[in-house]
Amino acid sequence: MPSALLRREDLLEKIDRSLVPRHIAVIMDGNGRWAKKRGLPRLLGHKAGADSVREAVKVCGELGVQVLTLYAFSTENWSRPKSEVKGLMALLVRTLRREADELNANNVRLRASGRLEALPADVRRELDRSIDRLSGNTGLILNLALNYGGRGDIVDAVNALLKAGAVSVTEEDIAAHLSTAGLPDPDLLIRTSGEYRISNFLLWQCAYAEFHITPVLWPDFRRQQLYQAVLDYQSRDRRFGGI
Ligand code: FPP
Repeated sequence: MPSALLRREDLLEKIDRSLVPRHIAVIMDGNGRWAKKRGLPRLLGHKAGADSVREAVKVCGELGVQVLTLYAFSTENWSRPKSEVKGLMALLVRTLRREADELNANNVRLRASGRLEALPADVRRELDRSIDRLSGNTGLILNLALNYGGRGDIVDAVNALLKAGAVSVTEEDIAAHLSTAGLPDPDLLIRTSGEYRISNFLLWQCAYAEFHITPVLWPDFRRQQLYQAVLDYQSRDRRFGGI
């Protein structure tokens, strides 16, 4: 039976627990279209998207995924209308505040990747507070990509190396200075809403990631869709350039 027709429980049963991706990265796209289809303001689409974030964190924890990186705000997203940027930042602060207890109960650690110093002060404060509060946990690492751009991440890493006196660099040097330093590279990159683009997300880190692109809009991407993405990943033959 095609996996799209299977029930949640049946999908879960099909997942090979020894082959779960260590790191899943997600381009959460389609919040605006989800809202538009319902005649709602775009911000309500982002709000519904935050519910999908909650579910993704829960499911990844249950499956034993080590890292979940979410593209929550790109360096390009500043060009959106001021009210939307403001609304997204407020949603972030609210969500961090509201979810901290639940994240803690689920043993989740928090981390952020991107040019964090340029985020509004209240976002940075809440982020620091949540990262600190969850720092003793040992489960899933939830990594929020905020004011993140893949090219900028590489440029910042190279500049940090130059500043430290490097005259030539290795791949390991660059990886160790990216804002994802210490995390395994993503095994699975999910993009929702049917767009076939990487949009400046984790350019270096996704060198060997498997892509799962689904037409489902992010607010509709829930447990069942995540199980399907993991099953899709498990059906791939990963050769890393070998044969
Ligand atoms: C893309 O949809 C989505 C974003 C730029 C923001 C993602 C943010 C959230 C899901 C909010 C909550 C996040 C956290 C981590 C609590 P879009 O607006 O580009 O959609 P469209 O392409 O349909 O317009």
